[in-house]
Amino acid sequence: MKNLKRMLCIFLTTALLAGMCIGAVSAFAAKEKPKTVTICSRTEPKYDNSWYKDLTVYQIWCRSFKDSDGDGIGDLEGVYQELDYLKDLGVDCIWFSPIYPSPQKDYGYDIADYYGINPEYGTMETFEKVMKGAHDRGMKVVMDLVINHTSDQHQWFQESRKSKDNPYHDWYFWRDPKNGSYPNNWDSLFEGKAWKYDENLGQYYLHVFAEGQPDLNMDNPEVRNEVKKIMRYWLDKGVDGFREDVISYISKDPGLPDGIPLPAATGIEHYDKGPNLDSYLKEFKQDVYNNYNMFTVGEMPQSKPADALTYGCGKRLDMLISFDQMTADGIVTDYVHVPFSLVRYKRAWRDWQTQLYGKGWNCLYIENHDHARVISRYGSEHYWKESGKTLATSYLMLTGTPFIYQGQEIGMLNTHFNSLDECKDVVTFNNEKTFAKVGVTGQRYLDLVNKTSREHARTPVQWDDSKNAGFTTGTPWFGVNPNYKTINVAAEQKDPDSILNYYKKALKVRKAYPALSKGSYKEYYPASEKIYCYEKDYGDQKALVICSFSKQDIPFVAPTGFDLSKGTLVLQNYPDAPAGSRSCTLRPYECRVYIYNG
Ligand code: NOJ
Repeated sequence: MKNLKRMLCIFLTTALLAGMCIGAVSAFAAKEKPKTVTICSRTEPKYDNSWYKDLTVYQIWCRSFKDSDGDGIGDLEGVYQELDYLKDLGVDCIWFSPIYPSPQKDYGYDIADYYGINPEYGTMETFEKVMKGAHDRGMKVVMDLVINHTSDQHQWFQESRKSKDNPYHDWYFWRDPKNGSYPNNWDSLFEGKAWKYDENLGQYYLHVFAEGQPDLNMDNPEVRNEVKKIMRYWLDKGVDGFREDVISYISKDPGLPDGIPLPAATGIEHYDKGPNLDSYLKEFKQDVYNNYNMFTVGEMPQSKPADALTYGCGKRLDMLISFDQMTADGIVTDYVHVPFSLVRYKRAWRDWQTQLYGKGWNCLYIENHDHARVISRYGSEHYWKESGKTLATSYLMLTGTPFIYQGQEIGMLNTHFNSLDECKDVVTFNNEKTFAKVGVTGQRYLDLVNKTSREHARTPVQWDDSKNAGFTTGTPWFGVNPNYKTINVAAEQKDPDSILNYYKKALKVRKAYPALSKGSYKEYYPASEKIYCYEKDYGDQKALVICSFSKQDIPFVAPTGFDLSKGTLVLQNYPDAPAGSRSCTLRPYECRVYIYNG
C-alpha cells in the first residue's frame, strides 16, 4: 500500500516536468580523458554562504530576454543592457538557464559543450562582461548545470557511440536489445520510449528526456570527476553557484530493472532519488562546494519537505526546487487541467514553510520556464493587475529565497496559438502523440496547449510598445504576445500603480521586515478557497498577510489577536484599505500586509 502510494505520488508529480506525465555546437576542444580517479575527501565548508538566504533571484531564459543584434534571438549583450533594470527591480542574483553551446532541441537543456557559450548568445568575453557588470552592481550570478544528460551532439556521446570499446562508451547507458527490443520498459518523459537504437553499434542508449538528451552514467567515477571539473571551471571563473537540473535523477538503479507500468512515466521509481544520489551529492559537496563561497539549488521534481531535510538544508544542496505549489490546477499533470484550487496552493506552501522552519531554507517561486504564466493559471486575466499583485504577495512574504522569472514582474500572460505550427517545444509535440492515443486531437489538443503548455513562458519579454515589443529589431524567433501594447516594461515603469512597481515595493518591504523574510508561519482559514491568510513571526515582530483570490467582494474577519486598525499597513494593492478593528470587505483579489511590532 505504501509503495502504491509512493508510486501514485511519483506519477502525479512527475507530470508537470514531463508535460503529459510525460513532459552550433562549438568546436569541441578535444579534452584529454581523465586518467586518475579521485576519492571523495572529507571537508568542511570554508565559507559561510548564508548570504544566499537574503537574495532575490531573477531567472533569465536568454533566448527570449532581449536581442541586441537584430537576429531575433535574445543574447548576453541584451542582458548586459538591462542590468540596471534588474538592479532597480531589487534583484540580487541572476540565474541563467543554460547558455552553453547546444543544438537547442530542449532549448539549452541539451548541452554540447560545458565549457563554452552558445554563439547565438555571445562569446565567453560577453559572458564575463555580464558577470562583472552584475558583480559590480552587487548581484550574484548562478549557472544552470545539467548533468543528468548531455546533448547527443556532445563530443563525449559522439565518441561513446563509435564502438563498444571506446573509452567514452561507458559514460552513457548503452545496452544490448532484450528479446529483440528495448532493454527495459521505461518511458521517456519527453519522447516516446526511453531507449533509442543505434544501427552502427547494435545497441540502445538511455534517454529519460528527449532522444537528443542521452543520460550520463554517473556511476562511472570518470563522469563524476568531469562534472566536478566543470563545476570548478565556472566557480574559478567567478560564478556564485549552480541551479542543478533534475538532480534527483542522476543515480539509476543498477541493472536498470523494468518499472511498474505507468502512463508515460514507467521506470521513474528506478531513477528518482536513486541508490547513489546521496553519495554523489555528498561527493560534489565535499570535493567542490565546500571550497567555494557559493550556493546550490537543486531541481527535484517529486520532492517533499522530508527530501529537503535529507538532500537540502546545506547538507548536500542548499535549497530544493519543489513542484508542489505548481500543481494547484492540474491532476497528474499541468495538461490534465482542473480549476485552480487555492486550498491545494496553500497546502503546498504550508507543508514546506512549517516543516523546514529552523532546519532548512525554501526556494520560493510561482513561475519559471517550465510552466504557463501564473496569472493566466492561478489568477484572473480580467483582474490582471489585482491578481498579479495578490499572487506576488502570496509567495513573496514567505520565508525563503524568492525567485522571479523574466516577465513575471510585469504580469506577462499566456499567449494564443492558432496552430501547433506556431509552437516550439519538444514537450508540446510529444504530448500531441500521447493525447492522440486517448482521443484528444486537433482543436481539443490545441486548446490544451493554449491553457497549459510551457510555451507561454518562452515568448519574448515585452520591453515597450514598439514593433516586436522592443525585444528585437529583427524577426523574433518566437511570436511576441500581441498584448505587448499594454503589458510592457516601459509602460509599467511610468505607472506608479503597475505590477512592476508593486514587485519593487514588495521586495523592499520583504527586506525591511524580518517577520516576512525570516519569520515562522501560521496559517488561518486553510479550508477557504477564497482567502489566503497567514501570520509570520520573528522576535517581537508579527506580520499578517491577507490575499483574496475571489472575483467578488468578500467579508474578512481578522484572526483573534489581530486588530486591523492598529497594524501598520506596509503593502496593499488598492489605493485605500478601509477596515474596522477586526473586519473589512476585501475587494476582488485585494491583498494587504500588516506589521505589528511588539
Ligand atoms: C528540467 C528543466 O527545467 C526543463 O526545462 C528541461 O526540459 C528538463 N529538466 C530536461 O533537462
